[in-house]
Amino acid sequence: MYCGIVGYTGLNYQSAPILLKGLQKLEYRGYDSAGIFVPDVADNMDQLVKEKGRVSELVDLVDRSDVSGTAGIAHTRWATHGVPSVENAHPQMSANERFYLVHNGVIENYLELKHKYLTDVPFVSDTDTEVAVQLVAKFVEDGLTTFEALQKMTSLLADNSAYGFLLMDDQEPDTMYVAKRKSPLLIGIGEDFNVVTSDALAMLDETHDFIELNDNEIGVIKPESVRLFNREGEEISREPFHVDIDASETDKGTYEYYMLKEIDEQPVAIRRMLDKYFGETGEILIGDQILNDIKAADRIYIVAAGTSYHSGLIGARMFESWSGIPTEVHVSSEFAYEQPLLSENPFFIFLSQSGETADSREVLQNVNRAGFKSLTMTNVEKSTLWREATYALPLMAGPEIAVASTKAYIAQVTLQAILAYALSDRIDLDLEQELSKIAVDIQAIVDDKAVFEKVANELLVPAHSAFYIGRGADADVSLEAALKLKEISYVQAEGFPAGELKHGTLALIEDGTPVIALMTQPKTAGLVRGNIAETQARGAEAYTITTKALAEPGDTGYVLPDVDPLLAPLLSVVPTQLLAYYTSLGRGLDVDHPRNLAKSVTVQ
Ligand code: G6P
Repeated sequence: MYCGIVGYTGLNYQSAPILLKGLQKLEYRGYDSAGIFVPDVADNMDQLVKEKGRVSELVDLVDRSDVSGTAGIAHTRWATHGVPSVENAHPQMSANERFYLVHNGVIENYLELKHKYLTDVPFVSDTDTEVAVQLVAKFVEDGLTTFEALQKMTSLLADNSAYGFLLMDDQEPDTMYVAKRKSPLLIGIGEDFNVVTSDALAMLDETHDFIELNDNEIGVIKPESVRLFNREGEEISREPFHVDIDASETDKGTYEYYMLKEIDEQPVAIRRMLDKYFGETGEILIGDQILNDIKAADRIYIVAAGTSYHSGLIGARMFESWSGIPTEVHVSSEFAYEQPLLSENPFFIFLSQSGETADSREVLQNVNRAGFKSLTMTNVEKSTLWREATYALPLMAGPEIAVASTKAYIAQVTLQAILAYALSDRIDLDLEQELSKIAVDIQAIVDDKAVFEKVANELLVPAHSAFYIGRGADADVSLEAALKLKEISYVQAEGFPAGELKHGTLALIEDGTPVIALMTQPKTAGLVRGNIAETQARGAEAYTITTKALAEPGDTGYVLPDVDPLLAPLLSVVPTQLLAYYTSLGRGLDVDHPRNLAKSVTVQ
């Protein structure tokens, strides 16, 4: 599930405003209902408020209900078991109204458990979560403590279940219980208070110090104490890590949507990367151990999902061309269950903005079991993929909030370029200089917003379908460009190698169909021109995104500065991001929260 969890327990402050602000920060991840539970010690009354729809509606409802108390738990739910509704929203309550539970993840054997243990318990929702909370209540009624009941409940869940649980017992109104497997959960440390969250960004206004919970661990959290226990029930200790993000980085500022802010931040993302990965004399600052391990490998396997997969396609070209290491790129959800024959000495690179994508983690766990070495490139330090890989390198893009990924793609391509370059003997390119120039060039492209707004409104807003074509690295960018367009504007969009047009897709070209051709590769630009002509002959409205050297008089399109062909995706993707943005805007859609999608997909 893509849901969000926040919890708070403190001595001095009302919990509800903190929890609701936390939920607002989690909105970007996608959800369709929300809820909050606050035990009220003074009046000995529990306050459970849930709402189908937006967090702002929950905020109104909480305001009207006069909720008060200094601890509580809250949740945004993205429906999996059962439709979005108030009944199915979390927190889920036990029938005896003593236990309240929020949950991220999926319990695979919940029906089996319901039939085995809970036949005489009345249920009000269709959720697997309600089964979990009723089990806790039942085990406590049978004589266990709440801690033991939670331990027993989690031990009964099928191995392939995923859960991040945050539980409250109204008999201990200042205590939160947490448990997790596969779904991320962090405990935030404060003075006179502690918090729980599935995403550090949600609680940065409260604290920057977090302890991660590992799989199969349980935590007991009070205002002034955090205790952690392993699967065997033994107490363990773990130092907090510091999240070095300025809370203001997660604000929209004057922007209407995060996506545009993040597109605009791309030059800064590249510059940050240059600062981080290049030393004063131009040397590359990536540990020798990583470089030696990759050099010792006979093949690189890049594994990723969505936009990150698309950035891997570009990276593979650089690893092969610059470093001479054969490289394959795989979609993680496929690789996890249809693993290709591996080379003798593989090295794995995981690309992930969030560092939490469940499909990618599944592969990483297999890789770890097989004893292969791996590197995660992620935007979220200390995320699951960061922690579980042999090595990790940060993307430095700053928090990415819009569901449609933009600056993380640019950062992933940049970091792969730096790594491929560090692995190569190629000396005829000054990568640091080239990347600084690219940062300036991207700035110029984003300053041309009005151009793309106009093209989007004329060409794409009225369209039913659209096509991106290109060859080589341009074909890879076409995939990303089409994904961006479809995910936020709902225009049916396809991206593919231009040469494939005539093998099927040409049949879809009608009068006025937009065909956007990416043409940055000198080797194949002439061929792409031929492909454009084929579509125009069938009525297509062609638009080109090309470089200065390859532009021709009479082109309808946008001209990019000249750039090394392997780095051209860093420039050519930017107009396609802006076209997607303005198409979504022009269609009156919620750019940052496209329907049915989520930012971080922590179920398979
Ligand atoms: C979701 C997001 C995409 C992202 C993909 C992979 O589908 O909406 O923007 O590309 O997950 O996520 P990751 O965090 O692993 O890069």
